[in-house]
Amino acid sequence: MAARIRKAVFPVAGLGTRFLPATKTVPKEMLPIVDRPLIQYAVDEAIEAGCDTLIFVTNRYKHAVADYFDKAYELEQKLERSGKLEQLELVRNVLPPGVRAVFVTQAEALGLGHAVLCAKPVVGDEPFAVVLPDDLIWNRGPGALKQMADAAEVSGASVIAVQDVPREQTGSYGIVATDGFAARQGRIRAIVEKPSPEVAPSNLAVVGRYVLNPRIFALLENTTPGAGGEIQLTDAIAAMLTEEAVNAYRFQGTRFDCGTHLGLIEATIRFALDHEVLSDSARQLMQNALSELGVADLE
Ligand code: UTP
Repeated sequence: MAARIRKAVFPVAGLGTRFLPATKTVPKEMLPIVDRPLIQYAVDEAIEAGCDTLIFVTNRYKHAVADYFDKAYELEQKLERSGKLEQLELVRNVLPPGVRAVFVTQAEALGLGHAVLCAKPVVGDEPFAVVLPDDLIWNRGPGALKQMADAAEVSGASVIAVQDVPREQTGSYGIVATDGFAARQGRIRAIVEKPSPEVAPSNLAVVGRYVLNPRIFALLENTTPGAGGEIQLTDAIAAMLTEEAVNAYRFQGTRFDCGTHLGLIEATIRFALDHEVLSDSARQLMQNALSELGVADLE
């Protein structure tokens, strides 16, 4: 058995160009899915997996993320005084007791690999998680990161979340080749960043959940800028494969790519239809919208 992960890194220092102009002032991670921002779903998943130290890699424009996790004294007082206790609980429970948030700055957006490297002084010498909040993963059972942390604790190897994608989409993802799968896991033989469908070694795409051994930091320090002039996490993982086992993990759950307009819309629809209070009304709204537009009924 290896050490259980306790720390999760959330790289949120990207520019979010696909959501401009909204992301001119609102970080992508603060966009809401029904009633919570994307970052809250990611944090909840990490806490469920056993993490008590949440490390946010931000930039100087992303005060909103730090403010969100800070204590809001005035707001809490007002809610308390006006008897809005349910809302007060929501505001207070953004982070449960015993969980701490640490903020690290990435001075320049030099890539995901570089953002992860910025967390090195806080992570230290232990296995840790990386969670990309714009990959929202929904599962009725244990969350994707908990599934992966359980697997990593048994094997001691780094674990990377993967998902089968249509072959024509390989150019949008890191793609892995494995030695085959036992249950949900397979040892990775190769990893390539955004290969075209003709040269992709498989259609198994990396999605935004990783459990990494701290060796990755030394490898990132030696990684030179790759695709797009950025320091790629994929390149450091490729170097890791030559030294130790890294497993791909086909998680149970549905992933929404909330880094794209359609993914955000899809997640909103799904979470609304599954919402304990809003689901009936949301369904009615969707049916009304479809019939007003002359599109076939949902039934
Ligand atoms: P993306 O590739 O989605 O980039 O980054 P982005 O800037 O967030 O969005 P677009 O493509 O411009 O719309 C993947 C993850 O890596 C983080 C992002 O915040 C996101 O969580 N990232 C990326 C950093 O933290 N720093 C970087 O330098 C680059």
